Amino acid sequence: MKKIIKNGTIVTATDTCEAELLIEDGKITQIGSNLSAVGAEIIDAKGCLVFPGGIDPHTHLDMPFGGTVTKDDFESGTIAAAFGGTTTVIDFCLTNKGEPLKKAIQTWHEKAKDKAVIDYSFHLMISEINDNVLKELPQVIEEEGITSFKVFMAYKNVFQADDETLFKTLVTAKELGALVMVHAENGDVIDYLTKKALEEGKTDPIYHALTRPPELEGEATGRAAHFTGLANSQLYVVHVSCAEAAEKIAEARKKGYDVWGETCPQYLVLDQSYLEKPNFEGAKYVWSPPLREKWNQDVLWNALRTGQLQTLGSDQCSFDFKGQKELGRGDFTKIPNGGPIIEDRLTILFSEGVKKGRISLNQFVDITSTRIAKLFGLFPKKGTIAVGADADLVIFDPNIERVISAETHHMAVDYNAFEGMKVTGEPVSVLVRGEFVVRDKQFVGKPGSGQYLKRAKYNVNSQLTQSQTLSI
Ligand code: URP
Ligand code: ZN
Ligand code: ZN
Ligand code: ZN
Repeated sequence: MKKIIKNGTIVTATDTCEAELLIEDGKITQIGSNLSAVGAEIIDAKGCLVFPGGIDPHTHLDMPFGGTVTKDDFESGTIAAAFGGTTTVIDFCLTNKGEPLKKAIQTWHEKAKDKAVIDYSFHLMISEINDNVLKELPQVIEEEGITSFKVFMAYKNVFQADDETLFKTLVTAKELGALVMVHAENGDVIDYLTKKALEEGKTDPIYHALTRPPELEGEATGRAAHFTGLANSQLYVVHVSCAEAAEKIAEARKKGYDVWGETCPQYLVLDQSYLEKPNFEGAKYVWSPPLREKWNQDVLWNALRTGQLQTLGSDQCSFDFKGQKELGRGDFTKIPNGGPIIEDRLTILFSEGVKKGRISLNQFVDITSTRIAKLFGLFPKKGTIAVGADADLVIFDPNIERVISAETHHMAVDYNAFEGMKVTGEPVSVLVRGEFVVRDKQFVGKPGSGQYLKRAKYNVNSQLTQSQTLSI
């Protein structure tokens, strides 16, 4: 069905203007004024911004971790994402050593297939590089369109890969045209520090943060960046939480290395003191890297503003407080790591970033959508408002004031990490390929309607060009 969106302010990564959009067959087919089309439904976006749907490059939906499984799956997780203005997620497909990559990817397809209400794609975790993996990777890229590989430098004896694996992954990714993503923390030293803390009877949630100090994130980030330079490859550092890591990324970029950095809303507005909440409530804020001392927030905001960090992911990895986070009572190392963030990613960046003058509205679009589409091979089908692009759109009220709460959120978990936070701005309606998923704040989507996205290879040149501008 044709639709015309009228009276809204269109925002892309480069432009802000009053214009109308014509949507046909799921795509934007005209941008202009006084548009008309026979049989088109008129959607009034008066007083609202209209921007490209958010792309969340970092989610863990239906993921087994820490002796349990994340509470949000591809249904509740993508519904919550849609309410928050996200129309595409790229989730991490876990792999097991010795098993075919195809099997792992099949498992992830099964998880998402009948559940996702928005479009989705996968990154592939690399746990080893051997002849079998090297044989399979070209197929993963060509057949599955998976063009980003994830290496964990932490979680010893669980996900952690060694330096040789990371280096070989960087070399292979360069040859094949994939972007390497790293969880950058020094897992070996963390393992030593956590064991020592437990021996000393230090079992509370705060010791999660104290045994994973920022030096170890900075060190691992720098190491990965140096390897990238040596391999002449490309690197994306996920969930940057602190000054030490942001500095290493800036240093690498100054040398001309192809290194990119993502931060997450939690690191921009919450701090380490949350882990000290009484009655074990600190466990709600246990994820890795941990929350940092508050002064780091200014460094991260500044890095987003100046382009030293380029994207915002949620690192959605949700566990109930009751029954799941509680697994770690008396031993902080048993608290499942992760938080429920997917729904509030855009609003927090808008409210704390745009409204408070830390970043521009166009930067907001770039950080939540356009840059991510370019890095992960989805641009210009996704990540912008342009003729020919998918009509993935958010109609956003920039003035509404509200309070974030678990009582009103759509994630399946029993708490919200931002409980009680006053924010300005809210998605009113969200469209995926021209169909409403959220309409006037009501869910109208359908589980299984989300499509799997095969992505293009990583291309450094497409990173350097300007975002596609509106042609009116
Ligand atoms: O604590 C976190 N971040 N859990 C999800 C897995 C990861 O490290 O991203
Ligand atoms: Zn991680
Ligand atoms: Zn260095
Ligand atoms: Zn993660």
